[in-house]
Amino acid sequence: MGRREEGEVEGTVRRVRESCVTGGGSGIGRAICQVLARDGADVVVADLNLQSANDTVSMLPGPGSHLALALDVRDKTSVDSVLATIINKYQQPPSLLANNAGISSQGAPHIHMTEEFFMNIVNTNLKGMFLVSQAVCKSLLDHGSPVCGAVVNMGSINSKTGLVNHCHYTASKAGIVALTKSSAAELAKQGIRVNCVLPGAIKTPLNANASPGYLEPQIAATPLGRMGEPEEVAEVVAFLLSEKSSYMVGSCVEVTGGFCM
Ligand SMILES: NC(=O)c1ccc[n+]([C@@H]2O[C@H](COP(=O)([O-])OP(=O)(O)OC[C@H]3O[C@@H](n4cnc5c(N)ncnc54)[C@H](O)[C@@H]3O)[C@@H](O)[C@H]2O)c1
Repeated sequence: MGRREEGEVEGTVRRVRESCVTGGGSGIGRAICQVLARDGADVVVADLNLQSANDTVSMLPGPGSHLALALDVRDKTSVDSVLATIINKYQQPPSLLANNAGISSQGAPHIHMTEEFFMNIVNTNLKGMFLVSQAVCKSLLDHGSPVCGAVVNMGSINSKTGLVNHCHYTASKAGIVALTKSSAAELAKQGIRVNCVLPGAIKTPLNANASPGYLEPQIAATPLGRMGEPEEVAEVVAFLLSEKSSYMVGSCVEVTGGFCM
């Protein structure tokens, strides 16, 4: 992906340049980093796996001042520390946040799922998103006016459909929809737009170990008849982070190839 020339940049970085992508070391997060960097943003790639975050930075186009940081979204101390590092480097918090980090796991029926199994997913997918967006948005508001920020939370179409043996994952993703809409309503007048993306089945390492019984029915029920590419989600995220989507607040945009229309 080639980087646009300075001054040609439209949308993503007209007034704001610093972006942060959680879970930016793999899959959809890595593709979001690449699209934002292509569009001229400085990208903080924040991931539990620092090596993979470094790998992403090494792939980014352009001479942007990108940064790889270790982040555990489940841990408020880690979130605060990463934010402090970003502010120290850029003199401001990231105005664009892609709240993308998330995990799935082997499934289990609701009636047999252990509390530990359930909370492991909720802690990363839902609590993590709460902690990161709270810290970044509060910091943006504290850093003076006018505030101009955008947050995109990574949900899942399975929050609407449910998914057999995955109540932990689907419940965490449904919570993200509610978190998105509540925080969007609170923050819109203060200059921060919050939206959400609901991907269908996307080709990433998250799905690498998925059983055929899980993916095949979903692909068969997808009008496009295939899985999505990470870049196809990333372009929508970049749009929602850009001023091109200036009238979108609290939206949950489906990127599913038509699955579950
Ligand atoms: N792949 C799909 O089909 C699909 C569909 C719907 C939604 N999603 C969502 O998209 C997001 C990205 O998924 P992906 O498919 O790219 O997965 P992935 O496994 O390729 O990437 C997830 C990244 O998140 C990081 N991560 C995990 N736990 C973390 C933590 N505690 N703190 C910081 N980083 C952490 C991982 O290290 C990894 O780099 C997730 O929220 C996922 O639920 C994916």
